[in-house]
Order: sequence, then C-alpha cells, then structure tokens
Amino acid sequence: MFDRSRRGETALLVQPHSGGPAAPDVVEEFAELARSAGATVVASVPARIDRPNAAMLIGSGKLEEVMAACEATGADLVLVNHPLSPGQERNLEKALKRRVVDRTGLILDIFSQRAQSAEGKLQVELAQLRHMATRLVRGWTHLERQRGGSIGLRGPGETQLETDRRLLQKRVEQLQKRLDKVEVQRTQMRRARVRSELPRVSLVGYTNAGKSTLFNALTGAEAYAADQLFATLDPTVRRIDVPGGAVVLADTVGFVRDLPHELVAAFRSTLSEAREADLLLHVVDAADPLRDERIAQVDAVLAEIGAGDIPQVLVFNKIDRLAARDPECADAHADPAGDPSPVGPRIDRPAQGRTRAWISARDGAGLDEVRALLAEALDLRHVRGEVAVPADAGRLRARLHALGAVRQEQATEAGWRLHVDLPHDEARRLFAQPHGEVLRGLVEGPLGPT
Ligand code: GTP
Repeated sequence: MFDRSRRGETALLVQPHSGGPAAPDVVEEFAELARSAGATVVASVPARIDRPNAAMLIGSGKLEEVMAACEATGADLVLVNHPLSPGQERNLEKALKRRVVDRTGLILDIFSQRAQSAEGKLQVELAQLRHMATRLVRGWTHLERQRGGSIGLRGPGETQLETDRRLLQKRVEQLQKRLDKVEVQRTQMRRARVRSELPRVSLVGYTNAGKSTLFNALTGAEAYAADQLFATLDPTVRRIDVPGGAVVLADTVGFVRDLPHELVAAFRSTLSEAREADLLLHVVDAADPLRDERIAQVDAVLAEIGAGDIPQVLVFNKIDRLAARDPECADAHADPAGDPSPVGPRIDRPAQGRTRAWISARDGAGLDEVRALLAEALDLRHVRGEVAVPADAGRLRARLHALGAVRQEQATEAGWRLHVDLPHDEARRLFAQPHGEVLRGLVEGPLGPT
C-alpha cells in the first residue's frame, strides 16, 4: 500500500549532541534505523549544539558543513537524529534543497513499512497524519519533490501531502473512528481470552533482541523474524502448551530508545498486550555490549505504559554469540552481577533481582528452560488464602480436598477454617456452585503470588 523507492535513497545523517561527542551507540543505532527504512547511509555529520538554533536547530557554520557534505556525497535526504519543529524542518529543507526527516518521522516511516494488520496500518497512518498535520500548514511548495524519494513520505500517499488541513482533520477523525471500532473488537477478543483463564505471557524487549525468533521457536509459528528493526509491529498471539497447562504467548513490537511519545500513544493497544500480561519475558541480546542500557530503556517504556510492576523474567538470548567470543571479549561481557559468562543454556535465580534465562532462540538451546519458566506463570494464576466453610458445605470441602487445594484445616464451631491454594480458574468454577460464595474473597482478590 505504500510507495517504495525503487532505487533506494541515499541519506546523510546529522547527529546533534551537546557537551562531548555523541555516544557511538547512539550514532550507530540511528544509522541502523535509516537502513531499516531502506536508505543507504553515505555520511554522518556530528553537530554539537549548545544552544539550539530556533530557526534550524543547527547554526549557520554547521549548516554549511552539512550542505558541503550533501553535495560531496550526492545525498538525496538528510536525516536528523533529533526532534525538529515543523518550522525547523521547512527551513532546513529550503536551505539544503533536500528533504529533511527527523527521528520521529523516520521511525514512523519504518512503522508504516512494517504494519501488517488492519489495526496496525490504521495506527501508523493516524500517527503519521498527526505528525504531518502541523507541517502541512503552509504546504510543501518550498521543496520540489524528489523523484523516487520516499522516506518520510510513505504512508498516507503523496496526494495527502497536498491536502489542506481541513481534509486532513477529516481523515484523522475517520481513522480514529475506524480504530475505535477495531479496538472494541480487540477488547471483545481479549475478554474471550480472559474467560479462557489462560495466563498471558508477553515477549517484550529492545528491537532486534530476538523476540520473534523465540516466539517462533516456542510456538512453531511463522512470525516474521528479520535482521531489521521493528520487524514485528502487530502483536501475534498463540496458545502454547507448557508443563502442567497452557499459556497464551504474545509477541510485541520492539522497543527503542526515546520512542517518540506519539508512537507510544498510537501503539497503546499493541502494547496493551504487554500491559495485561501476567508475566513478561524480557528478551535481551546477550551479546550486545550495551545490553544493560537496553534493559533499562525497555524498563522505562514498560513503566510508561503501566507495565512496570508485572513480574518479569530476563531472557538473555543469543548465547551462541557469547560462546563464540574470544576470552577477552567474553570477559568484557561478564555479567555485572559477577556470574561467569555462560556457555550453555541455564536459569539463574539471583537472591536479588529478576530470574534470568540464558538461551539461544536461533539454535533452540534453552527452550525447555523457558517452558519451565512459563509453567511458573501458571502459578501466578493461583489464589491462596483462608476460607471459612460452613458445616453444611461438606461437598465443597470434599471438592477442595479432592483438588489437593487444602494446605491446612481447622475445625471451628461453625464448620471448618481452610487454608487453600488452587488455580484461579478452579476457584471460579467452585464459586458458581452451592456455598461457593465463601470463596468470594479469593476469586475477587488480586491475582498474584503471595
Ligand atoms: P523486532 O521485531 O525489531 O522487535 O525484533 P525481534 O526482537 O523480534 O528480533 P528477531 O527475532 O527478528 O531477531 C533479530 C535478529 O537476531 C534476526 O536476524 C535473528 O535471526 C537473530 N537472532 C535471533 N535469535 C538469535 C540467537 O539466538 N542467536 C543469534 N546468533 N542470532 C539470533
């Protein structure tokens, strides 16, 4: 549905930073984003910014340098690793005589290429239109459109770009309405899933950590795995069997540093898979030298979407790449908690902090360990506590015993006081039976380990 550049665009990157030079990983990640959008990166220009220039973000000296680099490399497009106001973007385009796309525009572009489901496409289009709305006020006449260029222009289509604000607003409203409808459908589907009482587990993690590969390995599904950022945009959900039961596993969009706010909002229903999970498998590229920062960045997004308190297991993926390292590198990647660099799959349960699984999703190493961890998610759906069973509710008491749910029992004048521990769905089934109301406190109480 989106027009793609056939020849691929050449992009010059501008990397604004303040103080010291931009961190190499920040520079490299932006280049990776550009490549994910289909661009060929021809040069990268650092731009120290102490006081942002209101008109163009960068000062006039830097502008000349960028212009010269554009001429020398023949770049079609300038990508700026910083949010630009619509005015700054326009002024830069006028001065550089090329299209200029900021970080948000670039990420939106990648999202528009990746969206698969009707909902994902609507969400991307809506976010793009909102991002563009302010940029369209005075039109794009200052810039002769580059033939074949498409980065940052994909999505709503070129004719949309010439539409005036009123039409744009109408389109935004239409999209919002359709999206609301899709969301209602999703909520209904989700309710049906909740009724099935299966614990829900979401895979979360930094983009390219290997979530889809792990999802495929666990489910035998064909979710799209590619060495591209944001290969997964729409949540894919499958039921899988684990020792002692089954869980519903969801693959979700990859996170990235400074995910633009408008995207967090646009993807709230995608991310709600994570927010409503009983357990999060936080997948980490174990061979990434910046893995600790990545973990912190993902935790920050999780907190932002209200998923910060959900029980979490860290899954250190790609241990095959760790094992292949020479000892010096392996040392450099030794675990900060003092664990030796892993050579095979295993589970660590440090006294403090999150449980960690070391696996290779690609090689299928450690999958049984992950399944065992998922089985623990079943336990999250247990309810525990004391109930007073009246003397005439002998059948209920017998049923609880038959389920092996009674941990302690004490006779009282009115009947029995039972300390029980049983799956939440069993408790709900009993709740619907005679005398079941004694279980009300357990069934309606908060779920979670005691
Ligand atoms: P996003 O969709 O961007 O969020 O990515 P993702 O986290 O779903 O990552 P994906 O599964 O697409 O994997 C990214 C890349 O890492 C692919 O090239 C995979 O083949 C590779 N990969 C995944 N797991 C492993 C692993 O255990 N070892 C190695 N060496 N590569 C892996």
